[in-house]
Amino acid sequence: MLRDKGAGATQVQPTAPVPAHAIRFATPVVETPGILILGRWVYRAVRALVLAPFRFPVVVSTLVGSVPTLYYLGWVGLALGVALSGAGLGAWWWRWPLSFRSLVVLRALAAWRWLWVYRRHWQPVLVVAGLAESYQERQYLPQIRKVTCTEWADRVRVRLVAGTSPADVENRVVELVHGFAAPSCRVTVLGPRDVVLEFPRRDLLAEPLDALAVSDEVDLCALPMGLREDGQEWRMRLHGTHVLTVGVTGAGKGSVIWSAIRALLPAVVDGTARVWAIDPKRMELSYGRSLFARYADSAESAVGLLEAAVEGMRERAARYAGRQRTHVATVTDPFVVVVLDEVAFLTAYHPDRDIRRRAENAIATLTSQGRSVGFCVLAALQDPRKEVMNLRNLFPDKVALRLDEASQVDMVLGEDARDRGANAHLIDPDVPGAAFVRLEGSPIPVRVRAAYVTDDDIATMTADYGAPGLRSVPGAEVT
Ligand SMILES: Nc1ncnc2c1ncn2[C@@H]1O[C@H](COP(=O)(O)OP(=O)(O)OP(=O)(O)O)[C@@H](O)[C@H]1O
Ligand SMILES: [Mg+2]
Repeated sequence: MLRDKGAGATQVQPTAPVPAHAIRFATPVVETPGILILGRWVYRAVRALVLAPFRFPVVVSTLVGSVPTLYYLGWVGLALGVALSGAGLGAWWWRWPLSFRSLVVLRALAAWRWLWVYRRHWQPVLVVAGLAESYQERQYLPQIRKVTCTEWADRVRVRLVAGTSPADVENRVVELVHGFAAPSCRVTVLGPRDVVLEFPRRDLLAEPLDALAVSDEVDLCALPMGLREDGQEWRMRLHGTHVLTVGVTGAGKGSVIWSAIRALLPAVVDGTARVWAIDPKRMELSYGRSLFARYADSAESAVGLLEAAVEGMRERAARYAGRQRTHVATVTDPFVVVVLDEVAFLTAYHPDRDIRRRAENAIATLTSQGRSVGFCVLAALQDPRKEVMNLRNLFPDKVALRLDEASQVDMVLGEDARDRGANAHLIDPDVPGAAFVRLEGSPIPVRVRAAYVTDDDIATMTADYGAPGLRSVPGAEVT
């Protein structure tokens, strides 16, 4: 009951009944008995001793060997033992460098990184990042289970605090990246309470990447495009999807398009893939005309080419109806990639309304129906806003190169991409070709860099793989 002080002690206000959800229960704090805590420490110490020879064979054998040596042979004997061990390690490194690196160098590095980087900064970084909590004078801090080092990165295995989920960590990768001064952080979920944080030790994408070698085999679902931040090859699917590449001018859209075309070359030569190119700026694709089955650079011919693609797609769909569900690339039914540079030129900037409408209709039809019959649209775009390109959601896969504004990141890569660390708006202008993508089966955006296909590379490609003369398309005459 509340008393209204202003009206003296006479007026009494009735209190509203307390709703059930507002009743608070105080959970009793149960202290863990000291004997159990002691038992756990003893168990951990014994386990560490038993496992030490397996985890740190070199350190343990050095310690075990040096004490009796010092005792029986004195300092001279110990010095001799150290010299012999050094010689043994040198011989190991010389004879089996790979096993020496993984068993000695990387393990020593992991111990050092655990001590100097992660253990030292763990608590402050996690508290500031909001992943650790203090409650009634207790610290609820995720525990480092293990630190291992690969050639390029540290992998920190973490046991989360009960009540937090891997998604909480995924949403704090930006803070973790800053906290541990790493170029990026990749979270792999091992279980409801176990995650691995992967911190590259240096930025593998800082240096430009030369055009990749053209392989003999083409996997249309995993074309080699460049490098991932984790040191693995970046592969991109084209078959069964459509890809929209977005980035400001100079961001490197050309390198994404050309890396894909380059990876397709063997299939183009054996006739199982065809590239149809639209180049409104006449700058990007004109170098490689002889690689394309069809090419258009004026608005009229570009729309004609798109409509021809829709027609081809419909003809194929009619043949497949009731007989075949998926497309298999063959010489008679090749995989068709419609490469479209600066798509907004046709859908937004062109002054003729009819051109804009026809282009938009054709792109919408191709992207919504072409997937399963072997038609793919690979488009490039500078400005992802809806007023410029309202078809972006019809592209299942997107590549976010350097963007103008933070708000554009989620427009391109989907909701929460920026929270999960895709800072495409912060990509350094001096690193063209760097981008964020989502890989299949993972919600975490990954930083990649496309290989740079230079004009000289394109000239070599046309000389080695180009066909003399192009097939003309009604309404899409080669200019
Ligand atoms: N992957 C890459 N690696 C290194 N340098 C690159 C890469 N991609 C592009 N560059 C450099 O950046 C310049 C601009 O790249 P590009 O022409 O591909 O940009 P763009 O996004 O297509 O721009 P625009 O929208 O103006 O056509 C290139 O001339 C090249 O010097
Ligand atoms: Mg370009």
